This record gives sequence, structure tokens and C-alpha cells, in this order.
Amino acid sequence: MGNGITYCSLLLLLYLTLAPRVISNGVDDVLRLPGTEQKVEEEDDTVKVFAVIKDIAVGKTIPIYFPYVKDPSVYEFFPREQTRNIPLSSAALPHLLRFFSFSSDSPQALAMRQALDSCETMPPKGEVKQCATSLESLFDFARSVFGPESGQPRIVRSSPVSKSTPPLQNYTVTESKEIATGRILPCHYKPYPYALYYCHFQQSSEDKVFMVSLVGDDGERVDAVLICHLDTSGWDADHISFRLLGSKPGVSEVCHFFPALDLVVIPS
Ligand SMILES: *[C@@H]1O[C@H](CO)[C@@H](O)[C@H](O)[C@H]1NC(C)=O
Repeated sequence: MGNGITYCSLLLLLYLTLAPRVISNGVDDVLRLPGTEQKVEEEDDTVKVFAVIKDIAVGKTIPIYFPYVKDPSVYEFFPREQTRNIPLSSAALPHLLRFFSFSSDSPQALAMRQALDSCETMPPKGEVKQCATSLESLFDFARSVFGPESGQPRIVRSSPVSKSTPPLQNYTVTESKEIATGRILPCHYKPYPYALYYCHFQQSSEDKVFMVSLVGDDGERVDAVLICHLDTSGWDADHISFRLLGSKPGVSEVCHFFPALDLVVIPS
């Protein structure tokens, strides 16, 4: 019973803090599900997000898929005080669904269930992960994996593309620079009623992050984050990236562009 009361007060707090947003967007709009219009399916052949380092030499042209983000506010973090007390667990899902008025078979419920599942699943060996629901928790996690001498962490993300830009088109590289190596923390956007990122850190990875300036066939300019995995020798030969890049495990690095919804934390 005590727990029930705690939930009620937490949900009231949640309601009071999130209400303006919930109401102004309309409940159906609270969770703008990427699945309906902007999902990056790396399995899908038509979705071009993979590259190798020589593809980003200045002057090169490559097809890249950048999904349009209808409302960038979906990925803005709430202050920690507003989300720290909201239970982030599958066990609390029935309460959360009731609060948000999502029926348990709605697409929103499915998205929330998937997000919570991924947050509760053990990461692969050699990896640590955390789901972050505020900037402060994201930075705390970044500091803990980068180490105390790493300084203030910094977020980098791709700039959003305009609505009129075709999601898949050819882009020409106008500039590219390496901005981090080794210690990088990639974080993936998960559809949820408030900003939720799944962040995972590979302890022994030889990864690099590049910032690549691009101009599309339609004139659209994008500053894109590219992550390159240099050691692919342990990868599954059937990984889609090898087919798309015409490569094999251990033969070449595999890089992929990040959509504007995702982010990477790097040491400053
Ligand atoms: C990109 O350019 C190549 C070479 O001109 C062309 O074959 C291809 O269809 C273009 N791709 C897109 C998505 O426009």
C-alpha cells in the first residue's frame, strides 16, 4: 500500500512537471515514434549509413541516409529533478501507461516496453551501458567510463536535415576532422515520453569519431558525426555493413553516420 502511495505522488509530480508538454502536444503526439516515419533500419539495404575512412576525403561523393526529425524537442533532456524520481523499470510500466493514458497494446506502450527492456538487458561482454534520462546522469556516466582525468565531457551530434531534403541522397564531403579516439560513448535515442538515451561504452575499442561537413545534391548542408570501428576482426561476417561496403571482418574499418537523434559523448 505504501508503495502505491509513493507511486501516486511520483506520478503526480511527473504530471505537474510534464503536463504543459503533454497537453500542448496532444497525447498521441507525446511519443513520436520513429518507427512510423524516421527509423534508421541498418538492416535495410536502402538505408545508407555505412562508410570507410577513405569515403570521407574532401571532394568525395557518397549516398547517405539522414532521417528527418519532425520535432527536435523530443530529444531535449528534462532537468534531472524532473526525471530522477520517475521509476525507469518494466515493473513500473503498468503505472506509467495508466498515467500517460496509453493502452497496453498501443504503439506507445510497445515503444516504452522496448526501451525499458533494452535498459534492463545485460550488455555484451566487454561493454558497459546505462540509460540516461538527464544531461547530468549522462555526464556522470561519461566521467565514470572516461576516468577522472578526462575533463568535462562534450556532446556531439549530427545537425538535423530540413524537411524538404530527401532522406537518401548523394552528399559531397567539404571538410572532415577527427575529433576523438579511443574513449567515446555512443548514445542511442529511444522513443519514450521524455528524452531517454541508451549509452554503451566498449572498454577496449579502437574507435574514432569524425565530424564530417557535407553538402547534399539539393544544397542541404549537414555536419555529421561519423563513428569508425577500426578493429572489426571479431565481427560476424554476415554483418550487413560488410555486404554494403564489399568488405570482410578484419579487412577494413566500419564507419557509420549518426542520425541527429543519436549522440556521442567524447572527452573535451
Ligand atoms: C548518387 O550518384 C551516383 C553516381 O552519379 C548515382 O548512380 C546514384 O544513383 C546517386 N544516388 C542517389 C541516391 O542519388
